[in-house]
Amino acid sequence: MKIRNLISCALCGLTLFACSPSGGGKDREMDRFITDLMDRMTLREKLGQLNLPSGGDLVTGSVMNGELSDMIRKQEIGGFFNVKGIQKINVLQHLAVEESRLKIPLLVGADVIHGYETIFPIPLALSCSWDTLAVERMARISAIEASADGINWTFSPMVDICRDARWGRIAEGSGEDPYLGSLMAKAYVRGYQGNNMQGNDEILACVKHFALYGASESGRDYNTVDMSRLRMYNEYLAPYKAAVDAGAGSVMSSFNIVDGIPATANKWLLTDLLRNEWGFGGLLVTDYNSIAEMSSHGVAPLKEASIRALQAGTDMDMVSCGFLNTLEESLKEKKITEKQINTACRRVLEAKYKLGLFSNPYKYCDALRAKEKLYTPEHRSAARAIAAETFVLLKNDNKLLPLEQKGRIALIGPMADARNNMCGMWSMTCTPSRHRTLLEGIRAAAGDKAEILYAKGSNIYYDTETEKAATGIRPLERRDNRQLLDEALRVASRSDVIVAALGECAEMSGESASRTGLEIPDTQQDLLKALVKTGKPVVLLLFTGRPLVLNWEDANVHSILNVWFGGSETGDAVADVLFGKVTPSGKLTTTFPRSVGQLPLFYNHLNTGRPDPDNHVFNRYAGNYLDESNEPLYPFGYGLSYTDFVYGGLQISSETLPKNGELTVSVTVTNKGNYDGYETVQLYLRDIYAEVARPMKELKGFERIFLKSGESRDVKFVITKDDLKFYNSELHYVYEPGEFDVMVGPNSRDVQTKSFQAE
Ligand code: BGC
Repeated sequence: MKIRNLISCALCGLTLFACSPSGGGKDREMDRFITDLMDRMTLREKLGQLNLPSGGDLVTGSVMNGELSDMIRKQEIGGFFNVKGIQKINVLQHLAVEESRLKIPLLVGADVIHGYETIFPIPLALSCSWDTLAVERMARISAIEASADGINWTFSPMVDICRDARWGRIAEGSGEDPYLGSLMAKAYVRGYQGNNMQGNDEILACVKHFALYGASESGRDYNTVDMSRLRMYNEYLAPYKAAVDAGAGSVMSSFNIVDGIPATANKWLLTDLLRNEWGFGGLLVTDYNSIAEMSSHGVAPLKEASIRALQAGTDMDMVSCGFLNTLEESLKEKKITEKQINTACRRVLEAKYKLGLFSNPYKYCDALRAKEKLYTPEHRSAARAIAAETFVLLKNDNKLLPLEQKGRIALIGPMADARNNMCGMWSMTCTPSRHRTLLEGIRAAAGDKAEILYAKGSNIYYDTETEKAATGIRPLERRDNRQLLDEALRVASRSDVIVAALGECAEMSGESASRTGLEIPDTQQDLLKALVKTGKPVVLLLFTGRPLVLNWEDANVHSILNVWFGGSETGDAVADVLFGKVTPSGKLTTTFPRSVGQLPLFYNHLNTGRPDPDNHVFNRYAGNYLDESNEPLYPFGYGLSYTDFVYGGLQISSETLPKNGELTVSVTVTNKGNYDGYETVQLYLRDIYAEVARPMKELKGFERIFLKSGESRDVKFVITKDDLKFYNSELHYVYEPGEFDVMVGPNSRDVQTKSFQAE
C-alpha cells in the first residue's frame, strides 16, 4: 500500500498523504483542482475547512452555536451536522456556494445510524440477523432517505467491539465478535457509499469510534481503555480495518485514551496504524468536542490539544473550535507547520470532491427527492421484514409461540403502547405519530379473530427520579404504581394468554446510558412476577438495547422473544412473528450473562492454566467464582426457532490441512419441525497450541440457510490456512502448523467437534 502511495505521489508531485491509495488519472485531476483552489485560500479559510460545528440545537456537550450563517459566509466552517430538513440545509449550502468568497460547498453530516425517517432496528439487533445483505439494504435505504433530505455524510458505521453489557453504546455496534463485526462493517459501508458516491443517493460513511471505545473500563461511558497491542490486533481492530478496506471515506476518532493518550491526539493510532499501516487516505474527524475534552483528560488545554490533534493526523475538529481559533497563533509560534494545515485541509476538500460537491454543490438538495423518497411504503416494508429477522427467541416452552389468533390476548406493559419508544437511540429523525405502537400492530394483525386487551401495568421504575434519568428526552406518562398493577391484573384475569411488553426504554441504551444493574427495572419485574403468578401462559416481549440478566425470567416465564428496539415498523414486525407469519431466526451476537459480576463476558475468551472442570460446582483453585458459574445464560450465536433444525454428524474431508491446500467440513441440517424458517449454521476454530494463547473458539464462518418444513441441506465450509491466522507476539499475521479443532453448530455452545493437523 505504501509503495502504491509513493508511486502516485511521484506522479502528481504532492505530499505522501495528499493522494488517495488508489492513485490514477481521476486522482490527478482532483489533486490539480484542489491545489489550484488551495493556492487561492487564505490561512483562515483553510482553517475554516477543518471546523465542524453542530448546526442544530445542541444535543450533547456544552458548546453554544448561534452564528452559523455568518461563519458560512466567512468560510469559517467546512461543514456542519445536526440540522434536519432539506429547506434549511439548502439555505445553508446556498450561503456557502453563493455568498462566500471561494464558494466551497459544505459537508452536511448526521448520525444516520439505523435509518433516517424510516427507522430500522438498532445496530446490535441488526447484527443478530447475521444477514449482511439485509444490513447493506438498510444502509442503502438510509442513504437514499438521508441524501433526499440534504445529508451527504453519515457518522456510521459504529464498529466498536463490546464485551461489557454495562456500556450503553453496545446497542450501537454489531456485538462482540470481530469476524462478524467485520462483515457487518463492510455491509454498512457498501450500503451508504454505493457506487463510490457517484449517485446523488450515495453518501460518505464514517467509521467510528477509532479506536477501542467499546472496551471502556467497567462499561462506564467515555472511560479509560488500556489494552495490549496483541489484544487490539487480534480481538478489536478487525472491524475498523474491514470498513477502511471496503473504502470508507472517513473515520471518526474516539473519546477514550489509547496507551494513555486520547485517541484524538494519538499519532500511533491515527497516523502510524490507520494511515501508514492500513493505507487510509480519507478524512479523519474527531468526536464531539473531544479536542477540548483533552483538558479534562489532564493532557492539554485547548491550544496545545489542537496542536497535538493536528500533528497526530486529525483533519477535522468536531465542535471544539480549537483548530479554527488557535492554530493560526500556533503556526506563528512555529509549533506547527503550514504543511500540516494544508494536509488536513486537502483531505477535507478531497472528501467534498469525491462526493461530487464541486461539480454540483446541490447534488443532495433536490426538494423533489425529499418529497418522494422519505418514509415510503417500500422502505417501510423493508424495515418491517428486516426487523422481524432481528428478533431472538430466547425461550419457548411447550411451543407457546406462535400464538393462535383466537380468544383474548392481554397485552400488558409500559412498552406496549409507547409510540416514542419503539425506535431506540439515534432516532430523532423519525416522526413517531406516523408509526404504529405495538398495541396497534398487534390489533391490526389480529383483526376480528382475537380480542386484544391492554393495560400499561407499570411505570418504567418505581422511583420518579430514576425514571427521569432513564427516559431522558422521551418521558413517558407516569401513573400510580398500585393502580397500574391492579388494572393489569384485572385485564390479565379476563385473558387466555398474557403478552408482557417490558424492558428498557429507548434512552436506557446508547450514549451516556451505562448501567450497573442489568435486570428488567424493579416495577416491571414485579409486574411480570404478578402476571406469572396468575398461572396463565406468559410471553415476555423484551425491549432492550443490551444483554440483560434474565435468570428469573428464564426460569419462570414460558416464552421470551427479545425484540430489542425494532424501529418504526416494530408494531407490525412483532405481530408478524408473534402470530407466526414470520418464523424467528435471530441469533445473539452478544453474550447474555447470568450476573453483572461475570462481566466482561464473551465467548471467544482464552483459557486459564486452571480451567473450570465443572461449570456448576465451585472448584477451589480453578478459574471460577464462589457464587456463580462461568457460563452465560444465553451464549453467543444462540437463538431458537418455531421449527426444529436437526444437525447430522459433522464430516471432515481430511484430518490434514496441506500447506497450500484446503479441507472441507460439512453437516446436513434438516428442518424437522412444522414451520419453514432460516437457520444460521456457525463454524468455529480453535488453535490448540500456539506461540501466544489463542481463544477457546473463534467464529470463522457461517451460513444462513432457508429450509422448508421437512427439507434438508448439506452445508459445507472450506478451511484454508488464511482462516488459521492470527497476530503473534511480534504482531506478524501468521498461522502456525499443528493441531486445530473445528466446531460446527447452531450456536457457540452446542457444537460438534473434529480435529485436524495443519501442515
Ligand atoms: C458521539 C458520536 C456522534 C457525535 C455526533 C458524539 O457524542 O459519540 O457517535 O457521531 O456525537 O453527534
